Amino acid sequence: MTEHITLLKPDDWHVHLRDGEALKAVVPYTAAQFGRAIVMPNLRPPITTTEQALAYKSRILAAVPAGMQFEPLMTLYLTDNTPPDEIARAKAAGIVALKLYPAGATTNSDAGVTDIRKTYKTLEAMQRHGLLLLIHGEVTDSDIDLFDREAVFIERTMAPLLKDFPALKIVFEHITTKEAAQFVATAHGNIAATVTAHHLLYNRNAIFTGGAGSGLRPHYYCLPVLKREIHRQALMDAVASGSPRFFLGTDSAPHASQMKEASVCGAGCFTAMSAMELYAEAFDGAGALQHLEAFASKNGPAFYGLPAHTQTVQLKREAFALPEAVPFGAADLKPLRGGETLAWRLHS
Ligand code: NCD
Ligand code: ZN
Repeated sequence: MTEHITLLKPDDWHVHLRDGEALKAVVPYTAAQFGRAIVMPNLRPPITTTEQALAYKSRILAAVPAGMQFEPLMTLYLTDNTPPDEIARAKAAGIVALKLYPAGATTNSDAGVTDIRKTYKTLEAMQRHGLLLLIHGEVTDSDIDLFDREAVFIERTMAPLLKDFPALKIVFEHITTKEAAQFVATAHGNIAATVTAHHLLYNRNAIFTGGAGSGLRPHYYCLPVLKREIHRQALMDAVASGSPRFFLGTDSAPHASQMKEASVCGAGCFTAMSAMELYAEAFDGAGALQHLEAFASKNGPAFYGLPAHTQTVQLKREAFALPEAVPFGAADLKPLRGGETLAWRLHS
């Protein structure tokens, strides 16, 4: 049995850091595990301009504990009206990507894109300037079953987009299905995907098997929602295939526990406190620990055109008791698996 592994310092290519007191509460967790992170722009109001992104970046940096090295990689929220000339400004300011949320797909996405064709001039500018397009790949039609929304998005939007923008780098974010894994592995074009730890560890039963076995567990509810076991297996096979097109993105999405444990539960799993520990558990469970370094530390930088880190970190098979809740401004935040003891521990 492998007792420890050494890997190049990892990055998180998809995280939600929120703002204000919530931001101050969660930034230290991500900065403790990762060298860099792609910070999602779905604040209220969303980060749609270069100026807003730079101001947000300085608030994030101010929340990094002294002595920690952490680089937030900033993104803009793509809307129907993002002006094409915002892209040159964004590029010059070091912003690396824009996030496409179909309007209404998830938390704070009401300002999202209503029709992809409305954004084509802006996508052309992104292709020209080398900014990446990060996509929440789900259709939002109420007549499409929630569990089918990712697969339908591939046919309707993702495949045509790749044809229309062959040089645009596209990240299919937090993929959850065998259809998406297969599409990303085989598509012609500049496409890659992030995969969360929770979609590698759990199928949809996890949402419905709390307490004595049939209780609803709101902390396992996220979007895109957990799928059937065959999909979890396909994701695990994809990340363990050695394909450079798959890399780490936690989609850690903190919500106050009062928002999760409510009659309407916010979507999102908070995993930043134990991100690498959860990925280690998933890869170990599949006998694929030898593929974790490429997934966590090499494939992401390569796709984004950035150097990998040179420092290393260690994961040890060592008991790690995760607190049930931590402060989140004036509220509480409950990590996924809070109150449990995990089998791996990150030493950075
Ligand atoms: C995210 C959030 O809370 O911001 N929620 C989630 O379930 N993943 C939004 C998102 O990435 O879909
Ligand atoms: Zn997300």
